[in-house]
Amino acid sequence: MKILTNQVTGVALGLIGSILFFANVLAAAEPIKIAVGGPHTGSYAAFGEQMLRGALKAAEDINAKGGIEGKKIEIVKVDDECKPMVAVNAANDIVSKYKANAVVGHFCSSSTIPASKTYWEYDTLMITPASTNPEVTERKLDNVLRMCGRDDQQGVVAANFVADELSAKRIAILHDKTTYGLGLAKAFQEALGKTKSKPKEVLFEGITRGERDFSTLVTKIRADKADVVYFGGLHSEAGPLLKQMRDQGLKADFVSGDGIVSKDFVTAAGGGKYVEGVYVTFGSDPRNLEESKTVVASFLKEGKEPEGYTLYSYASVQAIAAAIEAVDDNDRSGKKLADWLKAHEVKTVMGPKAWNQAGDLKTSDYVIYRWDANGNYQEYQAKK
Ligand code: ALA
Repeated sequence: MKILTNQVTGVALGLIGSILFFANVLAAAEPIKIAVGGPHTGSYAAFGEQMLRGALKAAEDINAKGGIEGKKIEIVKVDDECKPMVAVNAANDIVSKYKANAVVGHFCSSSTIPASKTYWEYDTLMITPASTNPEVTERKLDNVLRMCGRDDQQGVVAANFVADELSAKRIAILHDKTTYGLGLAKAFQEALGKTKSKPKEVLFEGITRGERDFSTLVTKIRADKADVVYFGGLHSEAGPLLKQMRDQGLKADFVSGDGIVSKDFVTAAGGGKYVEGVYVTFGSDPRNLEESKTVVASFLKEGKEPEGYTLYSYASVQAIAAAIEAVDDNDRSGKKLADWLKAHEVKTVMGPKAWNQAGDLKTSDYVIYRWDANGNYQEYQAKK
């Protein structure tokens, strides 16, 4: 009987062992899901493509080295069209339907801000590679970080450049009325007031996303004799605005922010001859770093230029992977992962990155770029 009992126990234990073994195998096979929430369709899809490309390449590279603790990363693409309401639905899908472990996103600040609240409610880590509005981190949600700078940093760099380097006298400040565009325009305006030469603001006006006829606005800019036009917004509106300015003979310098760092800006403007001489503030080019050499080469081999936010997105996946690997797998909540990232420097394709308690990068690296006639942007070397 004893023997029988032992035999039964042995069989039972064997069975339990097998079940646990297979459960572990299954768990090991279960991927780590990282959602890429951004504009994958619509006017701003070029930026969604940058994000997706960067995230997919990072996942591919990490998976090739064995993944995260043996688990493969799976990238889930979720569209927000750069629209706040769609972004909230996307965030709900990301946490409830796809049950993502973390999020790279979103792109537009106006999407990121409402979506991040959903991620906070579901305690899911979110790293935005591109949303620069201060509000993204100023609400101090404990699951939110960014892999980019802030508009109160790039606004200052732009204002100093316009005042000191371009010696502007009369400035027209335009924006697209969105969280990002208006926020950046105001940050620029405020910084301009602190420059030594304090150029005169001759116009402060909003346009509407989707608008393509700017003839009335161009007439106003001309009447106001602006020598610099500063635009807070994205490439789809910046392009036609610039084209119409040039077609109507307006030679005012055109200066903008990170919202136009896509080849699609060149297309939207009508070609290289239109974008030549446009200045833009953006983080120091990660494509020039030693750390990005192999990844950049791999993109170029595929005929893809890792422009704009591509490497920011790659770096965001690297940061997520580093945190997941470091944190106990029983508690990979958004807060735990974010806390770990705020306490540790992470090696990325963009160099080492470290965050403050708010979730902002500790170092801001905005510089000025100038678009050339071939439709590329290059870091601008100051003359003064
Ligand atoms: N930096 C832009 C934004 O925050 C893309 O919306």
